[in-house]
Amino acid sequence: MAMQEQAIAWRQAGEDIGFVPTMGALHAGHERLVTRARRENQRVIVSIFVNPTQFGPNEDFASYPRSFEADRARLEALGVDAIFNPSVDQIYPSSFKTRVDPGPLAELLEGKSRPGHFAGVLTVVLKLFQLTQPKRAYFGQKDFQQVVLVRQLVRDFALPVRIVAVPTVREPDGLAISSRNAYLGPPQRAVAPSIHNALDGASNAFGAGVTDPAELEAIVRHLLDGTPGVAIDYVAVVDDTTLRRPVRTIAGNVLAVAVKLGPIRLIDNVVLGAERL
Ligand code: PAJ
Repeated sequence: MAMQEQAIAWRQAGEDIGFVPTMGALHAGHERLVTRARRENQRVIVSIFVNPTQFGPNEDFASYPRSFEADRARLEALGVDAIFNPSVDQIYPSSFKTRVDPGPLAELLEGKSRPGHFAGVLTVVLKLFQLTQPKRAYFGQKDFQQVVLVRQLVRDFALPVRIVAVPTVREPDGLAISSRNAYLGPPQRAVAPSIHNALDGASNAFGAGVTDPAELEAIVRHLLDGTPGVAIDYVAVVDDTTLRRPVRTIAGNVLAVAVKLGPIRLIDNVVLGAERL
């Protein structure tokens, strides 16, 4: 049965569907989303689709890691009900024309370095939601701006889906797990935990009473400036809905960073004074 028919049949039978969209190359971060979805829904669908429209012309679409057989084995072990692995033609047939315009929040932070990225993300997410009919959809807090924009999409179009943000899964040394970590050479891998350490430093300062966002950002910059081979793209304290910088930092604001380690761009964030979004 086609994915959408199957999903509609499950919903008509009164079963809740939990949906986890991914681009494959699955790791412990994706697994945490799937485990959570498994716990909270009768049916779990995971999509594996490397979405061409969210990659810029100079990004890694062609070389993005693809490992379908290994991914399938992981997902079967986690007991998912369906793996949806559409072709590019299935999602974007030659007749495809409409695109989601994500509005001004997509111009900030990641959007500044990745023009068009969030239009591609929201377009595919909207289509995947239609194809999988989820009651709940699971997204990683690691891609914080993606969560914010998907929530905006859900509100703006009154989509009947609840967005669940799952805390970032990290390596033992604090580095946020990402498929792109595989690109890090040994010297870069060695300094990569400094990103999380710097966020932790600022998070502790917030816990100790520092509420000036500029001061919190300066703590991160200072800690990262002391790390060889790390170039800062942005460091920003922002509100978790508007992405604007608060006048005074409050619990629930997010401290987000993007850095380059040589050619590899990594992002990370912490929710200040709170566990999750
Ligand atoms: P992808 O990069 O494969 O990530 C799929 C989901 O896993 C995202 O929600 C992401 O935030 C989450 N994730 C990645 N690393 C994580 C970690 N260390 N801890 C917790 N969650 C983590 O994000 C995408 O794909 C795409 O943009 C997609 C939403 C599938 C649309 O194409």
